[in-house]
Amino acid sequence: MPTARSATVQPPPAPSSIITGEGSLTDIVIAAMAGTADRRTREVAEAFVRHMHAFAREVRLTEAEFEYGIDFLNRIGQATHDLHNEAILFSDVIGFSTLVCLLNNGNAGATETASALLGPFWRMNSPRVANGGSLIRSPTPGPALFADCRVTDPKGLPLAGVEVDVWQASPVGLYENQDPGQCDMNLRGKFTTDADGRFSFRSVKPAGYPVPTDGPSGDLLRAQGRHPFRPAHLHFLGFKEGYKTLVTQVFVDDDERLESDVVFGVTAHLVGNYRPGKGTPPAPDVTGPWYRLDYQFVMEPGVAKLPRPPIK
Ligand SMILES: [Fe+2]
Repeated sequence: MPTARSATVQPPPAPSSIITGEGSLTDIVIAAMAGTADRRTREVAEAFVRHMHAFAREVRLTEAEFEYGIDFLNRIGQATHDLHNEAILFSDVIGFSTLVCLLNNGNAGATETASALLGPFWRMNSPRVANGGSLIRSPTPGPALFADCRVTDPKGLPLAGVEVDVWQASPVGLYENQDPGQCDMNLRGKFTTDADGRFSFRSVKPAGYPVPTDGPSGDLLRAQGRHPFRPAHLHFLGFKEGYKTLVTQVFVDDDERLESDVVFGVTAHLVGNYRPGKGTPPAPDVTGPWYRLDYQFVMEPGVAKLPRPPIK
């Protein structure tokens, strides 16, 4: 016969953290994190633990493989410095960066998007360039490129005052931060769209390039028998208050690796029409082949927020 005292409702006992077998572990770990105050932090951390545990179970991860994986993660950190971001590169080559991009743009992945992954080479504070100016700051051989671009809202109305960063690799396949032969900020510039939403510039036609392969991401590519090349492209970042910051790339349509981008960045929407120039070039010093690019960017209403620069 219970007494009135013994019938008092007691709080449930704290779950035991004593592990009774492989099958009990995941729930115990998740229970230990139940006090996470921030709801989103709890949701993300719990899902991460669940999926990591499921991953180890699925492949029956060996101790040697666990040690290799830990060393791999450590080497990603050790390979990262002010001018190189191995973590972004690793995320890129396993398609994770593109997945996050597609989940967060184009109506949360439901429709095609004008966005693409940021990549590891955007730098804050590119030099301002007047409309029609050049990205070339030190001698950079290669076919001249004249780009005329326009930024609109989804209804096609021009967006004035958009700050647009442009950056690209040289025709030898290196960004200036990778190449002592280029001056600081070569092939980088920041433009402002005019009243008709337009900005234009001169540069060189980009060439495809290999991503850096001297770190753990390169080890992965070699183990998988994959080439390290990206098809040629220009990078763009459009920023205007009231609009979701547009991070994207425009690919060269005749690149032989358009269909095998090592970082999975190419969508049909982002293939540009780089047309061979005909007749008199737009600048008198152009002597060889030259190209034109016309491209229209669409920015969706939303929050303007700059990404964290992957390098300084
Ligand atoms: Fe790039």
